[in-house]
Amino acid sequence: MNAIYDIDNNNMIITNVLTGVSYSCPAAFGDRYKAGEFSHDERLFFLHEGFYAKDIYELQNFYPIVTPYAIWNENCLVYFGKNDDIIKTEVSADLSFILSLCNGNISICEILDCCEIPKEKVYEFMNFCISSENQIIKLLSDKLGNRNIDNFFGGYTFSLASHNPVSKTDNDSYYRNLSEDNVERQFTDIETTISYMLRNRTSILHNKSYGECLFKILYNKMESEVNQNIGLSILEIGAGLGDVALSILDTAPSHRICDYTICDISASMLAAQRNKIGTVHNGIPVQYIHNNILNSPTTMLKRYDLIICNEVIADLPSITLKQCSNEVIRSKATSMNYLEGDYINIGAFELITRLWELLSSGGIAFVSEYSESDNIPQISRVMGDHQETSIDFRLLEDFANEIGFHSLSSSLMSFMEIEHDISVVSPHAFFLLQSVYGLNKGFIATQDLESINFLGYQNIKMVALSMFLRHFKTLLLQKT
Ligand SMILES: C[S@@+](CC[C@H](N)C(=O)[O-])C[C@H]1O[C@@H](n2cnc3c(N)ncnc32)[C@H](O)[C@@H]1O
Repeated sequence: MNAIYDIDNNNMIITNVLTGVSYSCPAAFGDRYKAGEFSHDERLFFLHEGFYAKDIYELQNFYPIVTPYAIWNENCLVYFGKNDDIIKTEVSADLSFILSLCNGNISICEILDCCEIPKEKVYEFMNFCISSENQIIKLLSDKLGNRNIDNFFGGYTFSLASHNPVSKTDNDSYYRNLSEDNVERQFTDIETTISYMLRNRTSILHNKSYGECLFKILYNKMESEVNQNIGLSILEIGAGLGDVALSILDTAPSHRICDYTICDISASMLAAQRNKIGTVHNGIPVQYIHNNILNSPTTMLKRYDLIICNEVIADLPSITLKQCSNEVIRSKATSMNYLEGDYINIGAFELITRLWELLSSGGIAFVSEYSESDNIPQISRVMGDHQETSIDFRLLEDFANEIGFHSLSSSLMSFMEIEHDISVVSPHAFFLLQSVYGLNKGFIATQDLESINFLGYQNIKMVALSMFLRHFKTLLLQKT
């Protein structure tokens, strides 16, 4: 055994002489350890606790694998520490080579056999990587075989917020009180939106930005009733940091747009938008209206040919079915298996009515938001500081048809013509890369990754883009 023991009455300290990692245990356990009588589970416990005897490395059946929480290149290892902080450590080219062998299919013995650096150095490095302080390497007691490593590493998740049940969600004062210093943070740290993640040109949207791509699709769908010769009057509701507006104003030929209006409840968001876009952009006048869209001024009525509303309706009030007095909505919801405590997107219904009032004849409105797989709205647990409610697009579409719209709901992916097999850098890998390169937040697809030189970093995990987008839906409304 490769350890020394300090006995202190009932306790024992076991020290790994290779690494100096110590573990204190009851004397009875220490005696058994000394006699080499500990069980497989106890051995795993030691592995988990970051204490390893040399013999572990001589066992045939341990297969190390680098977790998705670390990336490395020839001289640097970057990984998540115990408190989710990101740590950068220098490594030698030899040790970085060893990391590349840790793929879950080669045993520790085999790795040791094929490396030329002193074994003690490898043991020390392995111990460091395997310790429960770090998330760098896990030891499998079996070959990875056909197991999918993306499913293999559970248990390291971003924490979810909890919300007290409420009879009505309302974010009016939340957005009104956002300070100017916080608007950027809203999209980088607190929550984010798909249009923000795709605000730059990307291979995901065939080298267009979200705004550019959306405008092109919507423009093609507009019918001849809208006089396209004099250009469109566009309204964007809740424009966030203004990236969609900026893309549209930058790239659409200016004769296609006669004016662009943004209505936002948050003065701070409006200030950020105005700073970015200005009051005339590309020759097109841009107007900013500080208002809750649900009671916007009458001067806005019947004025717009195109209305865009990305990820705003989950912020509008929702009430429980129990509070809902609209009998038509109640009976539809009940027939869709809603329970009395489930939420109804009452603010989103109001918005649909408002869209009818704001649109010119023949005009169209585009609404996007996220929904649950079973469609029944829930308060999102992604943010703890305000209460967004997912949207039931089935009820919304029915409601829109009833007030006279021609409406069509579809998934955001198919609406935006996004291919299903696209992979993007996983959130963990993104944060690791961001810590090295100071990247701005956004989806990075495999194709885009190739064009960025990530200085030989390995183990950059990719995940399906559909994992993020599959819950997002769109509603296209035409005022007939
Ligand atoms: C989640 S952000 C979405 C921003 C942007 N559309 C995007 O996709 O990135 C919600 C935006 O809607 C605005 N907003 C929230 N409630 C609103 C309301 N009732 N009326 C007008 N704007 C509202 C917020 O100030 C913010 O700009």
